Amino acid sequence: MAHLSIFFGVLLFHGVHGLTGKRGIAYNNNNPSGNAVYANLFKGKSKVSWGYDWGYPSWSLDSSFEFVPMLWGLPNGPDADWTAAVQTPGTLNILGFNEPDLTYDASSNILPEKAARGYLTYMQPFAGTVRIGSPSVLWNNVGSSSGGAYDTATWTQYFLGNCTGCHLDFAAIHYYQDCVTPDGQNGAIWFEGNVTNAHDVLGLPIWVTEFECYGSEEQQIAFLDQALPWLDSQDYVERYAYFGAFPDFLINADGTALSDLGDTYAST
Ligand SMILES: *[C@@H]1O[C@H](CO)[C@@H](O)[C@H](O)[C@H]1NC(C)=O
Ligand SMILES: *[C@@H]1O[C@H](CO)[C@@H](O)[C@H](O)[C@H]1NC(C)=O
Repeated sequence: MAHLSIFFGVLLFHGVHGLTGKRGIAYNNNNPSGNAVYANLFKGKSKVSWGYDWGYPSWSLDSSFEFVPMLWGLPNGPDADWTAAVQTPGTLNILGFNEPDLTYDASSNILPEKAARGYLTYMQPFAGTVRIGSPSVLWNNVGSSSGGAYDTATWTQYFLGNCTGCHLDFAAIHYYQDCVTPDGQNGAIWFEGNVTNAHDVLGLPIWVTEFECYGSEEQQIAFLDQALPWLDSQDYVERYAYFGAFPDFLINADGTALSDLGDTYAST
């Protein structure tokens, strides 16, 4: 029995939990190399352990990172490519719809009931074999831009209400807002408030799959200097990815190295 429980303990730690470090890279293949070249500039930065590209495949993400496939929007029918992506050896965690709560061009814009049916069809079959994230929603969206004319918290409540029988291992949220509040405080306090609130409301471990503050590079660095240690010290924050591995963001303008902001993200 002792052997069995030791074995089980190891299995739980590596197999079911399936988590390396918290810090990740959001990237895509929209660059002259047509691959994960910008994300791979973080290779060897020990704080950065995983990546996702709003879809799949990984476009040659370096094997030192865990690649997390995402089902960006609702497929039209059976999706063998998605199944194959989830079943690719090394896949431990999967992400679902991207900003289904919003209606702008680059959002997946899906009403909650339909999104829940989509989860039951395309995500739920993998419950227990990989860890499943909720749809990535813009948590600090308190105005209304959802197709159902309600805010993100309501979208999420309806999604969960419709998703009876859905197994969710963690909740994915986004956050975009100014780096400095109108009264001159570091916007990290807003960010921390939103992440805490998401955990309080949803009761699941949190992945912040996109976040960014709007401001100069210096202001963004000040934001990260406060936000990163805070994220690392919250037990319920499993993972996060600052936006993103692109020139003039975490990568320099030439696309050849990390920017100062990227250095901060890699090392703070
Ligand atoms: C299911 O979602 C619809 C919107 O798509 C909503 O009107 C309804 O109240 C939701 N049901 C539950 C039980 O949350
Ligand atoms: C979430 O962020 C917004 C800014 O987008 C801020 O106004 C709000 O106070 C934050 N919410 C919490 C609970 O801190």
